[in-house]
Amino acid sequence: MMDPDFHRFARSRDHQRCAHRLIPGGAHTYAKGDDQMPEWMPVVVDRGEGAHVWDLDGNRFVEYGQGLRAVTLGHAEPRVNRAAADWIARGANFTRPARVELEAAEAFLDLVGADCVKFTKDGSSATTAAVKVARAATGRDTVAICEDHPFLSQDDWFIGTTEMDAGVPQSVKDLTVGFPYGDLDALVEVLDTHRPACVVMEAVRDESDPGDYVRAAIAACRERGVVFVLDEMITGFRWSARGAQGLFRLDPDLSTFGKALANGFSVSALAGRRDLMEAGGLNTEKDRLFLLSATHGAETHALAAAIEAMRIARDEDVAGQLLRQGARLRAAVHDVTAAAGLGDWVGTAGRDCNLVFFTKDPEGEPSQPFRTLFLQELARRGVLAPSFVITTAHTDDVVDQTAEAVAGALEVYARALDAGSVDGFLLGRPVQPVFRKKAGTVWTSVSRPGGDGAVSEAPAVRTTPHA
Ligand SMILES: Cc1ncc(COP(=O)(O)O)c(C=O)c1O
Repeated sequence: MMDPDFHRFARSRDHQRCAHRLIPGGAHTYAKGDDQMPEWMPVVVDRGEGAHVWDLDGNRFVEYGQGLRAVTLGHAEPRVNRAAADWIARGANFTRPARVELEAAEAFLDLVGADCVKFTKDGSSATTAAVKVARAATGRDTVAICEDHPFLSQDDWFIGTTEMDAGVPQSVKDLTVGFPYGDLDALVEVLDTHRPACVVMEAVRDESDPGDYVRAAIAACRERGVVFVLDEMITGFRWSARGAQGLFRLDPDLSTFGKALANGFSVSALAGRRDLMEAGGLNTEKDRLFLLSATHGAETHALAAAIEAMRIARDEDVAGQLLRQGARLRAAVHDVTAAAGLGDWVGTAGRDCNLVFFTKDPEGEPSQPFRTLFLQELARRGVLAPSFVITTAHTDDVVDQTAEAVAGALEVYARALDAGSVDGFLLGRPVQPVFRKKAGTVWTSVSRPGGDGAVSEAPAVRTTPHA
């Protein structure tokens, strides 16, 4: 018996087959790749609005984690779009700076509070620029990163520390050292042993208040002439309109923002102390530092979108809304998992504005196959949820609908737990972590007909190019 939902994703599946021939990985961003979603439900988005997206087959989904957390106001927010469209009508890119460049800088610095800011297009470039500023300022080469923070940049100084380090010279890898989060003594030891140019880390990833620890870390850096770089890519405009630094009274030397800064438009920022940042300017006696300078760095409509998104973040307490709706979602998911008796196997984690979920196997171990089954059963029920990261467009109704979908997904999950495995329930291979050594492809779950995700034949499609 063919799975009843197989044909609901036919166009997306055809599209992905072509995409893999033309685009390595089938997507321009790894976290959107087919290895991140259930194989037989390779949703390709046609459009989005608010909390929802529609795929090529016309299926509508509630979407979480929108744009890898870049969207806080929901898709195609009309006021942000209008601000961008006004500048699209005036021109996107000129020979000289457009006035929107200063307007965006003023809006950002008013809100976040640093001396100077330089905008670019992606977070990785911003954190890499921070590293360069620190190296130029200190004359040192080593970078100390928090090893518990999963992603700080796509550039070599960071990617060389991951499993996906092919192409990064050993000499570059040797210049990055790690320290564990939350352990001040361990950080101090790294500072004293390696004398790095900078420390790069996020303030916090869960619901705790990291103020004391991060302030002590900043002080330890200052005592040793180490530049402290706070990565606010996720916390910025989500934890608070002024980022973690505003919320927890932190005073980093440099900080980097991106993601939600422009509600999905491409804008990121390096902000910080004037004496450090001016090395990249024209009012300096020092050797010139090529700070950030890109052809598209000041694309007008993206900066206009950022100005409007920042205005909304400040005037409408977006961070407060995200916290409230996230708390509502967390409680709703808790209720349905408790009612199903599955609270030990499926549940939420993280700060309410930035919820993720865990999925465990019958032995209580975190499980990618069971995660995939959960994703699959949510997608069947109209919820696309690699996380439960919320936007202000996730209304009460949307949250209630999500809770219903979770309840339905848990019925299948419970049967798979009882059966001892996802076999017969999961269509195709499990999802896999982005940072792994080999692409590989693990085929499972097509062996046993019957069950809820019943399939009796091997998939006719194979989207991943590796045998
Ligand atoms: C904490 C953190 N820093 C930096 C980055 C890099 O940002 P981008 O993907 O815009 O280059 C990310 C991206 O996910 C991130 O989560």
